[in-house]
Amino acid sequence: MEKWAATIIANAISTYALDTICTAAGVLLVASGLLSGLDFRDAVIILALSYLLWAGGLSTSLAANWRLLESTGTSTSLLSKLAYDVAGHWTRRGGIRRTLSAAGYVVFELAKESPYYLGAFGLAFASDVISGEEALVFLAGANAGAAAYEFALGRSTRFLIGIAGKTPYASFEEEWEPAQYLTDYYSTVDADERNTIAFFAEAARRMPADEPALVFGVGPTLHHVFALASRASEIHLGDYLQCNLDEITRWIEGEEEAHDWQPFVRYTLRCEGGDNPSGTAVLEREQLTRAKSTTLLRVDMRNDRPLAGAQQCYATVLTAYCVDSATDSLDDWQACMRRVVGLVRPGGTLLVAALGRTRGYFVGGKAFPSPFLEAADMEKLLRDYFPDSALTVRTVSVPECTPHGFSSIILAEAHGRFPPPTLVQA
Ligand SMILES: C[S@@+](CC[C@H](N)C(=O)[O-])C[C@H]1O[C@@H](n2cnc3c(N)ncnc32)[C@H](O)[C@@H]1O
Repeated sequence: MEKWAATIIANAISTYALDTICTAAGVLLVASGLLSGLDFRDAVIILALSYLLWAGGLSTSLAANWRLLESTGTSTSLLSKLAYDVAGHWTRRGGIRRTLSAAGYVVFELAKESPYYLGAFGLAFASDVISGEEALVFLAGANAGAAAYEFALGRSTRFLIGIAGKTPYASFEEEWEPAQYLTDYYSTVDADERNTIAFFAEAARRMPADEPALVFGVGPTLHHVFALASRASEIHLGDYLQCNLDEITRWIEGEEEAHDWQPFVRYTLRCEGGDNPSGTAVLEREQLTRAKSTTLLRVDMRNDRPLAGAQQCYATVLTAYCVDSATDSLDDWQACMRRVVGLVRPGGTLLVAALGRTRGYFVGGKAFPSPFLEAADMEKLLRDYFPDSALTVRTVSVPECTPHGFSSIILAEAHGRFPPPTLVQA
């Protein structure tokens, strides 16, 4: 009830503010004479351009509105909140909620535009006070005002969310649900994982053979482990949350309710060159992976010793959608990535997958953070530890994943880690 009350008040204030700014901007543009003398065609072009401007402002306020909804359950748009709440009753998928709440927001903003059209064209038709061209210029001015308003609203909303100290993201400690994650992301082999597994399967050919490997931030998943199983002597699986490791234990122990990874095993074998892997080949790779997964351990990328008491270096470290998927800060990502790279022994291999250019992704409708990473960030950091000639960083577009909150991924393979610098005694 309080959230609805806050939304109604915010909605009323924002409608009033938008009306005032748009009217003032429209009238000012006409009165200034800046665009007087335009013919009808040019006036239409100016109006079209003003819509582009408006769309730009709107994208800022839409992003802020989503963060506001996710972190406080309120909105500056009644229709957006209604769409968000209704969608939340019939789906837990964040992508759908986001799309519907954005649609509600845009429809409401468009509805607020209609009085301007009626007013401007009504006046143009019914009297000689303004011409048709002036009506269009007025609307273009109103759109420019709306763009400025949406931009300012978006920026101030984000600022206020920050001040309130409420992060718009869900917490791993309190809100992460392994079963939900598996349902949302691993019911089928989707585009992001088709690319990631293919990349890792190929890169694994170049990792040091018959030495231990670590999967850092494995989550409740096994799909990246199958590609390492035939090369590593043993595999250690590390995650921050015990509930994720419990899910892995269920699979290792062959419990009935464990997640079914067979489609992912089959896909891995295909990437390794098996055209049509038999059921036996799939079972054998599962068995091999179970046998090689010798250690489960708790890890923390924010700890200077991420493996705590089990701290050691590995010939191969694989980390996928972990460091980038557990922070919204690029500085934090860098600091944590350096700790993970520190687990690779000199001469060893690092394999990384990360979300590209996104502020977050959704699990069960909850937003988890991402630092808007670019391939250049990854490349810059890895160059400090690996020779250029043994470094590959690739961005892959995965538009199919947009409902999850991202549409590109970054894949990296790096071999031959430089030895850490030795401290010289003064
Ligand atoms: C999106 S999941 C990725 C899981 C898996 N690698 C995958 O590809 O599906 C992000 C993982 O980061 C882990 N994580 C969160 N905070 C962490 C921290 N401080 N240190 C290490 N891992 C963390 C979570 O437990 C979770 O398993």
